[in-house]
Amino acid sequence: MDRFNGKTALITGGTTGIGLATAKLFINEGARVIVTGRAPATIKAAQAELGDNAIVIKSDATSLPDMDALAEKVRETFGKLDVLFVNAGYGEFVPFEAVTEKVYDEMLNLNAKGPYFVVQKLVPLMPDGSSVVFTTSLANVKGMPVLSAYGAAKAALRALTRSLAAAFAPRGIRVNAVSPGPIESTAILQKVGMPKEAADQVYLQMTESVPMKRLGRPEEVAKAVAFLAIDATYTTGAELMVDGGWSQL
Ligand SMILES: NC(=O)c1ccc[n+]([C@@H]2O[C@H](COP(=O)([O-])OP(=O)(O)OC[C@H]3O[C@@H](n4cnc5c(N)ncnc54)[C@H](OP(=O)(O)O)[C@@H]3O)[C@@H](O)[C@H]2O)c1
Repeated sequence: MDRFNGKTALITGGTTGIGLATAKLFINEGARVIVTGRAPATIKAAQAELGDNAIVIKSDATSLPDMDALAEKVRETFGKLDVLFVNAGYGEFVPFEAVTEKVYDEMLNLNAKGPYFVVQKLVPLMPDGSSVVFTTSLANVKGMPVLSAYGAAKAALRALTRSLAAAFAPRGIRVNAVSPGPIESTAILQKVGMPKEAADQVYLQMTESVPMKRLGRPEEVAKAVAFLAIDATYTTGAELMVDGGWSQL
């Protein structure tokens, strides 16, 4: 397939998990991609895995100066941006009573404020026919006590999807969101400091709760992202659930 021939894409948080699977899919279908992450080891590994059609760089998704530099990098490298996949994020599992101002700010900065401003910085490079895809989460519609700040941030991102879809419709830019449920083979729980045994237990409980009785794979989310980014030419302001039915059934 060559859906992405001649297309340029920026994927924030694309060094592991959903973002990396999406970068691979875009590149396999002809795109040139800039991918961001934070940890030097995964930046290096992602660059090796993605090859010459990707540029993998360090860029903090909560830093406005980093976003300015990123926009400049996209302008210098591509001149225009066809797909902006705003995916960098994670959720800290903290009971409501234990959420500190630091945790709250971290969740809101990474999952709501960062996405807001990265679009503001990049949209001047986006032509008619281009599109933005945000990664929201099942946690923006399901009450999850240990993800209260994260769920609030992702709900803000869902609202932003609609506001920006309305703002950019006159310019021919579509804005949509993909909403994953529990996705396997991402190191997200370990990254936020959960020991492996506890993470396995969380995954087991989640599997039981999913109507399809399994976790999703990053590649399954990537396919939904590609659909929203390229194929869904009469869809804007939408959120596509990739959650084994958990939010609906
Ligand atoms: N996995 C799930 O079950 C699930 C469910 C619902 C929604 N989501 C959402 O899906 C998205 C991708 O998550 P994933 O599951 O693929 O997790 P992941 O494998 O941990 O990937 C997250 C990516 O974001 C990057 N990132 C995190 N904080 C960053 C920052 N401040 N600046 C720049 N990059 C940053 C990570 O890079 P570093 O490793 O270098 O930090 C990594 O590339 C997130 O928005 C997450 O909230 C995931």
